[in-house]
Parts: sequence; C-alpha cells; structure tokens
Amino acid sequence: REVWSGLIKTYQQYLPVTENTPVVTLLEGNTPLIPVPSIAQLIGRQVQVFAKYDGLNPTGSFKDRGMTMAISKAKEAGARAVICASTGNTSAAAAAYAKRAGMKAFVLIPEGYVALGKLAQALLYGAEVLSIKGNFDQALKIVREMANSYPVTLVNSVNPYRLEGQKTAAFEVVDALGDAPDWLCIPVGNAGNITAYWMGFCQYHQSGKCDRLPRMMGFQAAGAAPLITGQPVTHPDTVATAIRIGNPANWEKAIAVQSASNGEFHAVTDEEILAAYRLLASEEGIFCEPASAASVAGMLKVKDQIPTGATVVCVLTGNGLKDPNTAIDNNQNAFKPGIEPTLEAVAQAMGVI
Ligand code: F0G
Repeated sequence: REVWSGLIKTYQQYLPVTENTPVVTLLEGNTPLIPVPSIAQLIGRQVQVFAKYDGLNPTGSFKDRGMTMAISKAKEAGARAVICASTGNTSAAAAAYAKRAGMKAFVLIPEGYVALGKLAQALLYGAEVLSIKGNFDQALKIVREMANSYPVTLVNSVNPYRLEGQKTAAFEVVDALGDAPDWLCIPVGNAGNITAYWMGFCQYHQSGKCDRLPRMMGFQAAGAAPLITGQPVTHPDTVATAIRIGNPANWEKAIAVQSASNGEFHAVTDEEILAAYRLLASEEGIFCEPASAASVAGMLKVKDQIPTGATVVCVLTGNGLKDPNTAIDNNQNAFKPGIEPTLEAVAQAMGVI
C-alpha cells in the first residue's frame, strides 16, 4: 500500500512547486470524509451527507493545508520570518510550520477572543504571540502593512500559496466520492477556504477528474455576516470565534465563487451553530469546533432546498479540542461531580440502585 507523504508530494502536479521547492510538511491532508447518517436523516428524504473532517490535520485545522505551501514557498524564497493575524488556527499552523522550517513566527491575535487550545499551540510552538486590544480585522490590517515595510512574509490567506494548498481538500473530496458533491457547505470567515475549494473543484473539473461542480453554500455567523448583509461589520460577535470577522480579505473572490457556482450565502445564529455542534458530537461522535459546525447548521437551515438523491459535503474545518471552554459550557450530559470513591456511591450515581 502507498504511504501518505503529505499533500504537496501527492498533488504536486496541480501545485506551483518544482523539484527545488523545499517541502516543509507535517504530513497534513488525507483527512477522512465521514458519512453522517443521523444528520442526513434530519433532511427528511434520501440524501447522502458527509463531513470532511479537517480537524484531523497535524495542528487540528485545515490551515495546515495552506501553511505547508505558504511556508515551503517562503523557505524557497529565502524568508527568515513569517507573520499573520489570526483568530487562532492560522497562528497555530503558522507557528508549527515556521518552526519546522527554521523560521521565526510572529502572530497577532485579538485579545480575549482566541480559543484556549489555539493559544496553547502558538505558545508551545514558540511563536511570538502579540495579543492586540482589537479584533481580527484590525490585526490583519496591521500585518499587511508590516509585511510591506519589513522583511517578513505574510502567511494569511491573501498569500496566494495558502489557497493553492487549501484547494487540495477539494481534490480529496472528489478522490473519495468519485465526483464532486452536489453541495459543498462551508463556514466562511475571511473567505479564503471557500475560494480555495472552488479553485480545487474547477481545476479537477478541467483535468477531467470530475463531471460535476458543486453549488458552494457558504455560512457565516449572524453576528459576523458581512457577506450576507453586504456591509462590513465593525464589531463582529459570535461564539464561533474562529469566524469572528467583519471585513473578509477575500470578499470579492467569495462573491465571484457564489455566482460562478450558483451558490448561496446565509447567516446562522449562535444557537443554530451550537445545536449543530452538539448534534455532531452526540449523534455522530464527531467533535469539531463551533465555527466548523456552522456548515452543518447552515445545511440544516436550508435543507428544504436540497434535491432528493443529492450528495452533500459539510466541511468541518477545525478540531473540537481547540476550544474546550465552549464544549464544557455547552455539554449535554449529566456531569456528576463529588461522588464518593465506593462501588455503592458510583452505582447509585449511575442510577443502578
Ligand atoms: N473554520 C475555522 C475553524 C477557522 O479557523 C476559520 C478561519 C474558518 C473556518 C474560516 O475560514 O477565513 O478561510 O473563510 N480562521 C482564520 C484564522 C481566520 O485566523 O485561524 P476562512
């Protein structure tokens, strides 16, 4: 059997790399496409639903796909340091891959709005973690200017190599299904990933690897939904901190994807996001982070539009372990603390006696 060697090696013919590109990899990609039948059942007619669980990447999110490319190309160009703004996942991935490449990583994060696991990662991977008293949009503006004035490479999704790496998720979906799905449901923040998926589907389509192209269904949190309202949001707010973004850098690209794919963008409330988050864990055994659950929440919100017999893929962008606080605050099981360490007490607590 073939051993997985990372997404750059696997998909090199579709990527802007040469034999001179130093491949910086943690063997990211090759994540499972998991059937989620109990969620499919909620649609009320025959539909196949899959979760593309990108939370199983080396640093726990889809950002690793973009970062293996961005850091490899930065290394090829001789970069010594990289910088990004981040709601958490990009900072974790940038830190890990930069360090693997022997580079310094500077990450700007919005103070108080980064999930605990992501902060822990950036710190332990040894990034310079600059916590600003502002939001992601402000942080992104600063790092863009910084990269223009100082010898530091920007690795946010405005770096084209990020999208090149991330498009491989679409390749994997097609490789697993034998064709593109009818619908691709995806959370949208800075709108890099939806753009990357569409690039991937189009490239595979042109190469004869799939017959269809999916409708791209993008979902934003209601408190941070500029692509739905048509206006930048000055004070974005949502429990899904990963997508707490008011002015997406890839705004025009996302709108172009929406129209080219006959797709739709919708907002989902925090309640809908958390309901889908709990459902994925309790019905399917899949623990994703809140932002990721926006794809399932959105699909369920517009489920009446799904054609009978359709194949739907929901992208789960990040691992639930990233955000333990939200999980504990929203747990749905009886947590029974303070039990005496005896057989009787435990049996009683279990309801056996
Ligand atoms: N899901 C998760 C878990 C994310 O971390 C992000 C973005 C998205 C979805 C949205 O992807 O921005 O390409 O539309 N996180 C960025 C970060 C902003 O800094 O980690 P997008």
